[in-house]
Amino acid sequence: MARLLQLTFLLSAFSLVSNVVVASPISDPQVRDFLTRDDPAVRPLAKREASGYQARHLRPIEYPSKRDSTLDLGDIATFSRDPQPMRGALGDTFLSPSNHDVDKQNVDNVAAPTTDAGTVPNLKWSMSLSHTRLLKGGWVREQVVTDLPVSKDLAAAELRLSPNAYRELHWHRIAEWGYVLGGTGRVTAIDESGRNFISDIKGPSNGTEPDIYYFPPGVPHSIQALDDGLEVLLIFTDGNFDASGTTFMLSDWLVHTPLGVVAKNFGMDPNLLTKMPAKDPYIYKATVDPPPLGQADEEAVKTPQGYTPQKYVFELSKQEKTMAPGGGGWVKIQDSVTNFPVSTQLASALVFIEPNGMRELHWHTADEWLYIISGTGRATAFAGSSTARTFDFQAGDTGVFPVSYGHYMLNLSPTEPLIFLELFKAPRYVDFSATQWLALTPPQIVADLLNISTDAVSALKKQKQLIVA
Ligand SMILES: *[C@@H]1O[C@H](CO)[C@@H](O)[C@H](O)[C@H]1NC(C)=O
Ligand SMILES: *[C@@H]1O[C@H](CO)[C@@H](O)[C@H](O)[C@H]1NC(C)=O
Repeated sequence: MARLLQLTFLLSAFSLVSNVVVASPISDPQVRDFLTRDDPAVRPLAKREASGYQARHLRPIEYPSKRDSTLDLGDIATFSRDPQPMRGALGDTFLSPSNHDVDKQNVDNVAAPTTDAGTVPNLKWSMSLSHTRLLKGGWVREQVVTDLPVSKDLAAAELRLSPNAYRELHWHRIAEWGYVLGGTGRVTAIDESGRNFISDIKGPSNGTEPDIYYFPPGVPHSIQALDDGLEVLLIFTDGNFDASGTTFMLSDWLVHTPLGVVAKNFGMDPNLLTKMPAKDPYIYKATVDPPPLGQADEEAVKTPQGYTPQKYVFELSKQEKTMAPGGGGWVKIQDSVTNFPVSTQLASALVFIEPNGMRELHWHTADEWLYIISGTGRATAFAGSSTARTFDFQAGDTGVFPVSYGHYMLNLSPTEPLIFLELFKAPRYVDFSATQWLALTPPQIVADLLNISTDAVSALKKQKQLIVA
């Protein structure tokens, strides 16, 4: 029986299908709208091919003869049944019941390309593995340093608020950055000079990109969902976000201060304060609906000091797309040096990779933390010293490429775009492109190293390709 099973596995493992069939993980109608909107910047593969579009990046024409006999392009392994730890002549089947559903999402853990080598720590965390705190009026789940120990710079949370529910008044020792994943909401804050801020925030509805926001360390703020409810991706500039001394809730403070002191401080009768919550609610419901979307001004408090000079909210929908010279998609980059002055500790990029497109080989001068908004991707982290490890990503996955690690991000789907965020604890977005580097180096140097012709080197693009088709 065991032999028969083994034979079945072997047979199924060898009947590899070449195309990865990937079901879209997207069911949210707003995200659907975003993906299917009629926008000249969105060029599905079929449309591109119909227009005679040629991929502009350099693909190797000839492979070194050494590898000709069994040319392994390192593609993702596909199995007609459950993934098995086998690749070519290497490995063997599972004889025990592996967790096949998890294996299927992480085929490169099970049957990595042979270019992977050495010990590279785990660089991926799926939000689906996080504990979710269910509260009256919403939920929250986190990825902190204990989930993904390599992510020391940044931690993250997904926060959901029911219609009109609040995330309570609080502040942090560190900076908070938010990306509206869905719905609508309103944020408030004040600065150290007593100037205040109120703004609506919107998710990716009606074919537009959503809003992002940034609150500097110490700036106290609140978030409220509007009619549609709200879901936000939150990023914090310390991986150890759950450590004591990171987040401070107003109600938590007040219930841990002698009542007489609170009353004296606010100039209130202590009897008025006896119904304060005994424990901070974190999320709580509104007793009166707020003014609807677009009418934040109605509840704005006028202060003698005026409004904050800097905007804490940035509308991605109003930012021009940077079309990738490589023809594989577009990016929108935000940082404090170019377009989002307040965001001095967080630089970000929204990356849109067309079907089969690829964010080119590159590296950064800070850890990259990433979040997959939709689609499926594959990335190899080159950790130096002959070590590398490949990871597979889908919606809701987070990941980290530590500073200087070389990497790419390939959209595995032939039909769906891959949309993700790159985030850095840095004032400025910085990346280095491998192609550009080689193109700007005397060709003979590169030719002699890689044993390719100088003609091939000279054909490399001198401009960053960003995303190749
Ligand atoms: C959606 O966008 C279209 C075109 O830009 C506009 O006419 C329409 O009013 C928008 N709908 C909503 C609900 O914002
Ligand atoms: C370069 O490739 C050729 C075959 O095309 C081979 O004969 C030669 O040994 C290679 N040189 C190096 C330094 O590997």
